[in-house]
Amino acid sequence: MPERLARLGLERKVRLLTGADFWALHAEPAVGLRRIVTSDGPAGVRGERWDEREPSANAPSPTALAATWDEARVERLGGLLAAECRRKGVDVLLAPTINLHRTPFAGRHFECLSEDPLLTGRIGAALVRGLQAAGVAATVKHFVANDSETERMTLDARIGARALRELYLAPFEAIVRGARPWAVMAAYNSVNGHTMTESPLLTDVLEGEWGFDGVVMSDWFATRSTAESAGAALDLVMPGPDGPWGEALVAAVRAGRVPEAAVDRKLQRLLRLAERVGALDGAQPAATAPWPPESVAAELRAAAAASFVLARNTGDLLPLDRRALRRVAVVGPNAAVARTLGGGSATVLPPYAISPVDGLRAALGDGAVVHGAGVTTRSRLAAATAAELRGDAELRFLGDGDAVLATERRAGGGYAWHGAFPAGVDATALRAVEVRARVGTGAAGEHVVGASGAGRFRLELDGRLAFDERLAPPPDADPGAVHMRPPQRGVPVTLPAGGSVDVVLRHDVEQAIVAFQLNVEPPRRPDDEEIARAAELAAGADAAIVVVGTTEEVESESFDRETLALPGRQDELVRRVAAANPRTVVVVNAGAPVLMPWLDDVPAVLLTWFGGQELGHALADVLLGEREPGGRLPTTWPAGEDGLPSARPVDGALEYAEGIFVGHRARGGPPALLPFGHGLGYTGWEYGAIEPDGGDGVRVRLRNRGPRPGREVVQVYASRGDGAVERPPRWLAGYAAVEAPAGAEVEVRVELPRRSFEHWDERAGAFVLEPGAFDVAAGRSAGDLRCATRLTPA
Ligand code: BGC
Repeated sequence: MPERLARLGLERKVRLLTGADFWALHAEPAVGLRRIVTSDGPAGVRGERWDEREPSANAPSPTALAATWDEARVERLGGLLAAECRRKGVDVLLAPTINLHRTPFAGRHFECLSEDPLLTGRIGAALVRGLQAAGVAATVKHFVANDSETERMTLDARIGARALRELYLAPFEAIVRGARPWAVMAAYNSVNGHTMTESPLLTDVLEGEWGFDGVVMSDWFATRSTAESAGAALDLVMPGPDGPWGEALVAAVRAGRVPEAAVDRKLQRLLRLAERVGALDGAQPAATAPWPPESVAAELRAAAAASFVLARNTGDLLPLDRRALRRVAVVGPNAAVARTLGGGSATVLPPYAISPVDGLRAALGDGAVVHGAGVTTRSRLAAATAAELRGDAELRFLGDGDAVLATERRAGGGYAWHGAFPAGVDATALRAVEVRARVGTGAAGEHVVGASGAGRFRLELDGRLAFDERLAPPPDADPGAVHMRPPQRGVPVTLPAGGSVDVVLRHDVEQAIVAFQLNVEPPRRPDDEEIARAAELAAGADAAIVVVGTTEEVESESFDRETLALPGRQDELVRRVAAANPRTVVVVNAGAPVLMPWLDDVPAVLLTWFGGQELGHALADVLLGEREPGGRLPTTWPAGEDGLPSARPVDGALEYAEGIFVGHRARGGPPALLPFGHGLGYTGWEYGAIEPDGGDGVRVRLRNRGPRPGREVVQVYASRGDGAVERPPRWLAGYAAVEAPAGAEVEVRVELPRRSFEHWDERAGAFVLEPGAFDVAAGRSAGDLRCATRLTPA
């Protein structure tokens, strides 16, 4: 490497340390470096363009992956994502997100894995291994404590040393040490007074203690200084081409404020990354075979089913016997339009998305499924879907005097360009983008047609001006708000059945990132009518499936949740449907915990997360017993909102006042609605003895006492009643999965790493093992421990 660097002057070297554009890094032929492309992550690989014509395989979201407790499966999915990266020319995936589920109010909860550092570390490491074995870099993010979104750019997370080490840094440590990721992303926020792009944790802990040898890149627009961040262990400023380094860094080096050796060090890391992903002359990256679409579908279908958590199943209602099903009512707001992924930068545009209605129709036949929408849960306008456009939309890219620079045909109403426009369109010459379309939903009644985005919009409907206005986000809005929660304006349009309206929507271009939507909302029937209809459909069916869930207004990036209650009148819908049909299954389509005040009053509840593009097929498989609902909760589902850690900073500071007592580790407080680790599956398990195995583990005997083969996740929790160190009442110390045929007895070894028993000693500045014995108990969840022993770790 040093000889390559010697070929470059200071300016050329510094240029490489800021992105070339929104997603890519600069090429430098003088050192044999080609362009390196990054992309989000983690539910798929978007690629450089946000465009429905270049779809991306959509995997279940991270909470679902953690719910599998299955590293082999997640590693395979990492391989699938790596193949997607290669197909889309991506070298660096901006995943996994391993911030912890400190509070279920966090907007990006769905994008993180678990409340538990051990589970997060193991599942995150598996994804990293799967990606990197195929020559694609993983980017472990966001280092550290970006555990909620409110004021994420500026908040100072105040975290005690033990909580920081034992919880928030722990999964980063496990993954860096165990899976050697090639990149880490520094978070927006500060921790204990240092903004993360300048934090001593980068130099002292990430590199110094753990030996991280990859690239530390900033989160997008997170770098705030020149000399301070360059003097820290930050290697790459994203995105580009502008930023606080560039010429300012060259000047800082010349003025002696930043040593040139610091620049060289960053560049060496960048070239190492280039070599690893095959972007440097002569480097041989690991090969990846493409995945045919049928294999992608099969893998995603199996993964979704493996993540579903059967929360309740009274009287073994599930699985349903398909021979006894002449008619099934599939109702609820997420029944026909399921959420397959969460919002924000994690969004990808899948080639298709199988809803629960689609999945059950495919399994049972069209005639066997009746559907009702239930209630309305969204208050914002949605982008026009392909089905709502009569033919494609025509986009015109306009220059001075409205000269048409280029046109393209698009099959949806969501558009985004991050500085790069279609061929022939020079960003500096672009003045406006115009969408011409004919829209209609087929339904009769009052629709809403509108626009979302920031800046000036002009909407004409059937040749008449509807509005010409500037839409502005609130002054303190997150920079991501233009994507995540843009301002909107809609106008009512009454259409007859089958009717449509001509739309011309013009948006003036004012900056490099252009993102907006053409919105169409179909007429809505009042909730009272829809609830009554859903109950009626349920009453006349052999079984009722109510699919409830969250929306993009609730779970996304750049804001947190205001409440954990299901949006709209969904709780009422559930109660009404369950009262109408005793064979009611509630399917919860959410990436994070929601309140379920009706849990004890419905026979069966299945939690499906954001299940990816095969969600509906996987749901049919599980409801009909073709597959096991394999998931176990990666996070405690609280019974209410009281006592949960807050995501609201006060005067710019977010106190992690609960310290090490998070999730299933919490002290006191109301019992969980569903404990961490919970998940019934379709068979029953009888636990026998647990014994220390003489090394760093225990052996647990158990028997599948149910009627089917199954997979059990044997969880081992530690506790220490008599020690001098303050500790959570119990914590996950290890886990292992085991499969067994019906009736079979099996033994499983659960490794309990020494770290599971150590605590961070603030005075020693090190992890320390308190001498003596710990209690360890194995069971089905943190709330269902079946056998116990004592163990003195070595
Ligand atoms: C998010 C990152 C993401 C980046 C690029 C940021 O706003 O926090 O997770 O990778 O944008 O899209």
